[in-house]
Amino acid sequence: MNRENENKIRAARKDEHIKLFMKSISAKDNGFKDIVLQNNALPETDFDNINTELVFLNKIIGMPVMINAVTGGTDYTYDINKQLAQLSMTYNIPMAVGSQTIALHDLSKQEGFKIVREINKSGIVIANISANSSYESVCEAVEMISADAIQLHLNTAQEICMCEGDRSFKGILSNIKNIVHISKVPVIVKEVGFGISYETAKKLHNVGVKYIDTGGKGGTNFVAIEDFRNKDLDYSFLKHWGIPTALSLIECKHASRDLHIICSGGITKAEEIVKAITMGAAITGISGLILRELLENGYDGAKACIEKLQYEMKVFMLLLGVDEIEKLSKTNYLLKGELLQIYKQKFI
Ligand SMILES: Cc1cc2nc3c(=O)[nH]c(=O)nc-3n(C[C@H](O)[C@H](O)[C@H](O)COP(=O)(O)O)c2cc1C
Repeated sequence: MNRENENKIRAARKDEHIKLFMKSISAKDNGFKDIVLQNNALPETDFDNINTELVFLNKIIGMPVMINAVTGGTDYTYDINKQLAQLSMTYNIPMAVGSQTIALHDLSKQEGFKIVREINKSGIVIANISANSSYESVCEAVEMISADAIQLHLNTAQEICMCEGDRSFKGILSNIKNIVHISKVPVIVKEVGFGISYETAKKLHNVGVKYIDTGGKGGTNFVAIEDFRNKDLDYSFLKHWGIPTALSLIECKHASRDLHIICSGGITKAEEIVKAITMGAAITGISGLILRELLENGYDGAKACIEKLQYEMKVFMLLLGVDEIEKLSKTNYLLKGELLQIYKQKFI
């Protein structure tokens, strides 16, 4: 297939992904129901003093939430990225753009990504590309939006469900190693909804990766999304595949204490954000919830959604007796149910 045709398919797929995401049902259980936080009846702090700010990638951000990779590069998605960028600027939270491959081959597609940096001039903007891309492509993607960091995505389960998807997955780790060693910006390796295990995190850490985004199971389900696109194939046998987000976070933390973890995959509640940070995540990433709010309830709906998360986060922090985000990681949490069973099997 020639490059022009490949890019046409890519553009159609980007628009379809958004539309089919809206029809799809989330993978549901992200594992956080098995994490227990306990009430602190003596919080010794005032609600008005609770601060959700923190430092991430050397910049102060408003709360431990980033708008995770979704889209860009087509007329339909230009407006979505524009509004997501406005949200990221308004609340001073990082934003990752969707895969930029489409704009590397066709300069006319760059506007839908560049708009994010044009709107959010000084905040954290993160580039995104497949983990099997060349270093030259990484540099172009970073330069396109003056990115503070680059996400390299791993998405085997998604690719295998796509008729036109990749079938070759050899050499990705050594490609990541090469990129990490020469990249001028921090490299974040991420999944897209199937999670990163202890073993994978260890391999990534061993080749020099310092930032991992769990992209765990429990939210956006690309098996379901790709299955809507498949006419002849049926991948529903994979609909429960993946590592729940809370488990993936535990696994990555066990791989190395030095790793900075972005905990993502089905994060929809303030309680889950607070649990993730308590468990050692640097920040959380949200795609599905914010995209759905934006498309169903408009820009004001998405704003209200972020404000609700921030307010409820503060309430949980009060009830844990914590007035700053970094103190959450010193707060105790307990495991129960399935997560505890798996934890015992794997780590004790
Ligand atoms: C419509 C849509 C498009 C996405 N496109 C990308 C992409 O281009 N690159 C990527 O790394 N992740 C992509 N993702 C995955 C998200 O970044 C995230 O890892 C995944 O959706 C799980 O988070 P969630 O449950 O909060 O949605 C996409 C997600 C959605 C919903």
